[in-house]
Amino acid sequence: MGAQRAKGALRVKSVEQSIRDTEAPEHRLRKDLSAIDLTVFGIGVIIGTGIFVLTGRVARDLAGPAVALSFVAAGIVCALAALCYAEFASTVPVAGSAYTFSFATLGEFPAWIIGWDLLLEMALAAAVVAVGWSGYLTSLLGSLGITLPSAIAGEGSAFNLPAALIVLILTAVLVAGIKLSSRVNLTIVTIKIAVVLLVIFAGLFFINGANYTPFIPPAKPTPAVEGLAAPLIQVLFGVTPVAFGLFGVFGAAAIVFFAYIGFDIVATAAEETRNPQRDLPIGIIASLAICTVLYVAVSLVVVGMQPYSQLSESAPLADAFKAVGQTWAASLISIGAIAGLTTVVMILMLGQSRVLFAMSRDNLLPRGLAKVHPRFGTPHRITIMMGVIVAVLAGLVPLSTIAELVNIGTLFAFVVVSIAVVILRRTRPDLPRSFRTPLVPLVPILSVLACVYLMINLPVETWIRFVVWMIVGVLVYVGYGYRHSRLAETSPDGRQGVGPA
Ligand code: ALA
Repeated sequence: MGAQRAKGALRVKSVEQSIRDTEAPEHRLRKDLSAIDLTVFGIGVIIGTGIFVLTGRVARDLAGPAVALSFVAAGIVCALAALCYAEFASTVPVAGSAYTFSFATLGEFPAWIIGWDLLLEMALAAAVVAVGWSGYLTSLLGSLGITLPSAIAGEGSAFNLPAALIVLILTAVLVAGIKLSSRVNLTIVTIKIAVVLLVIFAGLFFINGANYTPFIPPAKPTPAVEGLAAPLIQVLFGVTPVAFGLFGVFGAAAIVFFAYIGFDIVATAAEETRNPQRDLPIGIIASLAICTVLYVAVSLVVVGMQPYSQLSESAPLADAFKAVGQTWAASLISIGAIAGLTTVVMILMLGQSRVLFAMSRDNLLPRGLAKVHPRFGTPHRITIMMGVIVAVLAGLVPLSTIAELVNIGTLFAFVVVSIAVVILRRTRPDLPRSFRTPLVPLVPILSVLACVYLMINLPVETWIRFVVWMIVGVLVYVGYGYRHSRLAETSPDGRQGVGPA
């Protein structure tokens, strides 16, 4: 790429221009969310398959009872990143989250990369959560004495039919433009939190202290960490891959990290928030803090109820109650999980369409793709296309494989946002920042290091898939976005977008 082209690819879209775009009448969204609404929205997306499903697999294969420590470690990484997201969201309150933030600081190409990466995060996370949903449906039907054929549901099925079906049903709902009203969301979040509290408080009565020893099982090589499934860090440093042990426990944080994904999605609601400068930071940080406390408590209780090696793979919370003979509680938990996970899938698919929308608004993707349906008023093409892809993935690909890919994509976005906070402080010190990340640049640097640590704890095969996805992204940008970009039309020299308008 010549110097001129490289400069073009780094053209930035000024914060003012981003904000102006949102004020165009045809793109204006209603602003009626408060800090509490955002917190509820955040908890609504955050609590999902991570805690309801991955806890079991991670405790069984990688961390033992110390999975609670993995949750603490992942929570700390997220807290560092959340402080950076909060500053950005309060400075650039525009939908599109990390995509918009990077466009304002690093330039068009990095923004494209992040947008491409966010597609991976949200579309695939929707698939993961749908698989978790299917696990709880199977468990609930099991409690009622109905067994689905193993080829079409549950662990090791050839095609996970319930997971694919729920994605297709929700795709239709999104195309029809049926909004999840704040009231429905609030009801479902309440049910979800009630179920989580039920697990914590009812579970306390069934804890067997013996299940906590050893709290950190001794390190050992296992099939979970062999070959391409070995974490990159262990391959880089030439150590024999092991699960459990202190390394295993902190390495497992890279997987349970999935449970926290969603606080960053709060930032996508920026344009619908009444007082975004004040409320977004509150929503991001409060939802993350509440979920962290709940996760640590749930994981401590569940590994106390059943020996970690016996936790179930698809519905560990409900099945732990079945194992202690409390089928009623298992059924309640499954019902709550099914309701709760449904909204997570829906919000993730919605968020994904918002990012695509923002990218097409900038002409980095064909505008026609985000064309709005004349009757339903929704971007039906993109929604259906992504819905079918997500449904196929949810049906075919094992949950952990996709979850790891989602994690690496999200962690990458966190790294970029953390760096961008420092850059924007330098390039635009004048912007009003109602929330300031404390101790800059220390906190952003720690955030980058912590995210990279989790990233290198992900399996080698996850890295390969991630790199392939990103290369495809670069090719699409070079082949399409670079030439069609709206900024290219307005600022061919790549400079006009910089600085106050
Ligand atoms: N954090 C969300 C979940 O666990 C994505 O399902």
